[in-house]
Amino acid sequence: MSTSLPRHVGIIMDGNGRWAQVRGLPRIEGHRVGAESVRDITRASRQLGLEALTLYAFSSQNWARPAEEVKALMELLRDYLVDERAEIMDNQIRLHAIGDIERLPAFVKDPLDALCRDSAHHRGMTLTLALSYGGRESLARAARALAARVQAGELPLDGIDVDTLGGALPTGILPSLDLLIRTSGEQRISNFLLWESAYAELMFVDVMWPDFRRTDLFKCLEQYAARERRFGLTSAQLADPESDVEPTAG
Ligand code: IPE
Ligand code: IPE
Ligand code: MG
Repeated sequence: MSTSLPRHVGIIMDGNGRWAQVRGLPRIEGHRVGAESVRDITRASRQLGLEALTLYAFSSQNWARPAEEVKALMELLRDYLVDERAEIMDNQIRLHAIGDIERLPAFVKDPLDALCRDSAHHRGMTLTLALSYGGRESLARAARALAARVQAGELPLDGIDVDTLGGALPTGILPSLDLLIRTSGEQRISNFLLWESAYAELMFVDVMWPDFRRTDLFKCLEQYAARERRFGLTSAQLADPESDVEPTAG
C-alpha cells in the first residue's frame, strides 16, 4: 500500500435498508449487519494508523423516518456503545461525537457521554460518530457561537474568518478531512461534513454498507493515493521542489 495515507477519513455509511430489502429482510437487519462493518472498518483504520475516522451514523433528517426504525437504530447504537467499550478503551481510541447529542434518548446519550469522557485522553485514533448530525445545522450552530462572542465584545466582527469558523465547528479538533467515502452508489453528500469536505477527495462506492469491509476500504485508500490533490495550484507548482507556494486549504 502506498505511503500517502489520509489523516482523516469520513464515511457516509449508506445502503443498509436496501441491503436488507433485496434479501427479503426487514430494514433493521441491514442496520444490524452494518454494525459489523463499523467494527471491521474501525479496527482496520486503527491498525493502519489513521488519525481520524468520522462515521455518519444518523442524520438530523433521519429523525423523520418511521418511529419504529428510529427506535431500532437507537437501540443498536446503545448496543454498539456497550459492546465496543472495551475495544475502544484497550486500543487507545478516542471517541468523539458530533451533532445534536441532546436530542438522543438517555439510554444512548449516557453511555456515549461516558465513553467520550473516559477515552478523552487516548491518542491512538479519534473515532467521531456523527449522530443526530447535519452539516448545515452544525454551521448554523458555529455561526451562533461566534455571533455571541461578537455580541459580548470578545471577538471583532472581522475576526470571523475561515480559521475561527472552522475552529468553532465540532470537527475543529480533527485534522482536515482528506477522504470522503459514500457507500451504496448514491452520489450526494446528504448534509454530511459540508464545510470540512471543501478539499476532501470524494469516493462513491457501489457496495452497500453491510457488505463494506476492510478490503473495500483498502481499495479506496489505493485510489486515494493515486490522486493528485492540487488545492487550487497547478500540477507544475506541486511538482516543483523550488516552489515556495504552500497549498492553503489542506
Ligand atoms: C444508512 O442506510 C443508515 C442510516 C441512514 C441510518 P439507510 O438506512 O439509509 O439504507 P438505504 O439507503 O435506505 O438503503
Ligand atoms: C445519509 O444517508 C445519512 C447516513 C448515512 C447516516 P441517507 O440515506 O439518510 O441519505 P439520503 O436520504 O439518501 O440522501
Ligand atoms: Mg440511505
